[in-house]
Amino acid sequence: MPLPYVLLSAAVSLDGYLDDTGPERLLLSSPADFDRVDEVRASVDAILVGAGTIRADNPRLLVNSPERRAARVAAGHPEYPLKVTVSGSGDLDPAAKFWHTGGEKVVYTTDKGARTARAAGLAADVVALGADLDWRRLLTDLHARGVHRLMVEGGGTIHTQLLQEGLADELQLVLAPLFVGDPSAPRLFGPGAYQAGRLRLVESRRIQDVVLMRYEPTAPGKHGVPAAADHHWLRLACELAELCPPSETAFSVGAVVVAADGTELARGHSREGTDPVVHAEEAALAKIDPEDPRLPSATVYSSLEPCAHRSSRPAPCARLILDAGVRRVVTAWREPDTFVVAADGTGLLTAAGVDVLELPEYADRAKAPNQHLLT
Ligand SMILES: NC(=O)c1ccc[n+]([C@@H]2O[C@H](COP(=O)([O-])OP(=O)(O)OC[C@H]3O[C@@H](n4cnc5c(N)ncnc54)[C@H](OP(=O)(O)O)[C@@H]3O)[C@@H](O)[C@H]2O)c1
Repeated sequence: MPLPYVLLSAAVSLDGYLDDTGPERLLLSSPADFDRVDEVRASVDAILVGAGTIRADNPRLLVNSPERRAARVAAGHPEYPLKVTVSGSGDLDPAAKFWHTGGEKVVYTTDKGARTARAAGLAADVVALGADLDWRRLLTDLHARGVHRLMVEGGGTIHTQLLQEGLADELQLVLAPLFVGDPSAPRLFGPGAYQAGRLRLVESRRIQDVVLMRYEPTAPGKHGVPAAADHHWLRLACELAELCPPSETAFSVGAVVVAADGTELARGHSREGTDPVVHAEEAALAKIDPEDPRLPSATVYSSLEPCAHRSSRPAPCARLILDAGVRRVVTAWREPDTFVVAADGTGLLTAAGVDVLELPEYADRAKAPNQHLLT
């Protein structure tokens, strides 16, 4: 099921705190950065905060600029993004500003929490997600409500879970030039199992005296469960397919091999370099030492499912992937009957125990350089 693009947004002190322990919210951003946050809010379909942030900060979470609100309406969107909160207990103050400002509101909670929240008479749609709160179910429900871009504005408990579950597409982190120095103040990220390797820094920008850093997670998902980073890598494979020399007799395909910690091991595309028949997965795998211990836990991203039959070489790409020991493949598009009828590289791989995940939302991109073969 498709999920919204999830953008985590937070400001931290130099010593990594989200707030101090005083009764007022600690202002970490600069005025120009608050305006940037307003711009981001205006660009999303929904804004989510945890119940802890409603209790601590009593936020309104509005788009403050009248011009930005007018632009939303002119574009056919509601004046304000949907406001979303998450609570296990359902113990939320019905007088909080969250409920009485802006547009529609939704509370995601547990079965037990829903009884408490409904009894409190909150001005919101209360959605019970079962005995425990499941983030994928929550995000699926938001997507079904038309939320394609979700901004998450904390607090730390929420950010930690979304990052650890591989559901955050982007982290927008603002570093403020001050210290909190109080170990009982809330931190941005708690302990737990994060992705092993390094995130990708996609932007850094000075905004008055604070610095905005934008990061993307890089670690592939596990087994058949997609992670946010899977989307990035599959998009890259589709971009690589655009680099292929044109052909009337073969598809244009891009491939990337990525280690479990998010390190790119190799990339390739069809007819790369001086080899007029090389396939994308073949080109990428050829650049990796077959003894590389990262291969068994790596993921192969291929814009088109790996081939199961081919006449130009003895081994099809599905076989090369099995021989390399890779156990996870992510693809955008199943091979059509253009050259081989009922090719089914996916079937060959899954029969051998490989997890093959298809993300059909990238199929149009994968097909783009192959349109001449599909008419
Ligand atoms: N600097 C910034 O950018 C920024 C931004 C936002 C917040 N903050 C600060 O962050 C602090 C609040 O952070 P926080 O970590 O205490 O609170 P939080 O993340 O806002 O909310 C935590 C609450 O959300 C609910 N929740 C979270 N995960 C859940 C799950 N899996 N299942 C069910 N319920 C779940 C629980 O509500 P129940 O307790 O109702 O069960 C939990 O207590 C405040 O001090 C605030 O000022 C700073």
